[in-house]
Amino acid sequence: MRSILATGCNRGLGLGLIRRLVKEINPPKTIVATCRDIAKAKELGEIAQIHKNVHILELDVQNVDKFSHFSKEVERIVGDNGLNVLFNNAGYSPKSTRINFVKADQLTLTFAVNVAAPILLTKVMLPLLKKASASKSSSPLGSERAAIVNMSSVLGSITLNKDGGLYAYRCSKAALNMATKSMSIDLKNDGILVTAIHPGWVKTDMGGSNAPLTVDESITGILKVLRGLSEEHNGRLVQWDGQYLAW
Ligand SMILES: NC(=O)c1ccc[n+]([C@@H]2O[C@H](COP(=O)([O-])OP(=O)(O)OC[C@H]3O[C@@H](n4cnc5c(N)ncnc54)[C@H](OP(=O)(O)O)[C@@H]3O)[C@@H](O)[C@H]2O)c1
Repeated sequence: MRSILATGCNRGLGLGLIRRLVKEINPPKTIVATCRDIAKAKELGEIAQIHKNVHILELDVQNVDKFSHFSKEVERIVGDNGLNVLFNNAGYSPKSTRINFVKADQLTLTFAVNVAAPILLTKVMLPLLKKASASKSSSPLGSERAAIVNMSSVLGSITLNKDGGLYAYRCSKAALNMATKSMSIDLKNDGILVTAIHPGWVKTDMGGSNAPLTVDESITGILKVLRGLSEEHNGRLVQWDGQYLAW
């Protein structure tokens, strides 16, 4: 993996991903980490101070009008090599769960962040992903060539929904799963692999303190999955430990 761009890297799993990537024996040459407010992203800023391969860019994924300009900034950083991995990590989950508490603005916001943003960001990043893929055209599908990872959730699985509720979040991740499947079909001929990952139930602001997994445990598994991505993962929902989940 020569380069990776991940969204939502100021806390939670996104920050954990960057924290671990810089410690790898062969870290990516270029890591682009986004956050909404650089001034508030203290730990991310400290990592970038030490590791010169980390570039921080501000991005609120709801500001889709700025995506085109953002892609130019990424292009300036990754240069002629293009972008190997786009990791759509930023996500939002409203607190209310049951049908009586669903609100229109929650549904709209959750779909904007969890569905519209990853689709539209993927769209503007395609030229850079295609460039990376073309430069490794003899390599098999995988993160060494070009890949899109959409951070999904088991809560978006229709088959595995036994508890109901969580309308905005579940529906948004189910829609993201569908986008993942369509992208995996549309982009296969460009040599770009697309997969959805469930990180497990993880101790973050979103996952809460009762979650069984630490950020580090989840990210360790996710990075193993990322490094081992192959054609069989294309258009699938994969868990942090490599297990496939039903859509
Ligand atoms: N934790 C779990 O158990 C779990 C389980 C399944 C799936 N996931 C998924 O994993 C991903 C990361 O979740 P997490 O647990 O790390 O959650 P988190 O601690 O709540 O962090 C969410 C991240 O997304 C960013 N974000 C939210 N809205 C944004 C926007 N409009 N523009 C840009 N960034 C935005 C946040 O930035 P700000 O700090 O600026 O808000 C933050 O960096 C999400 O997609 C989530 O759905 C998590």
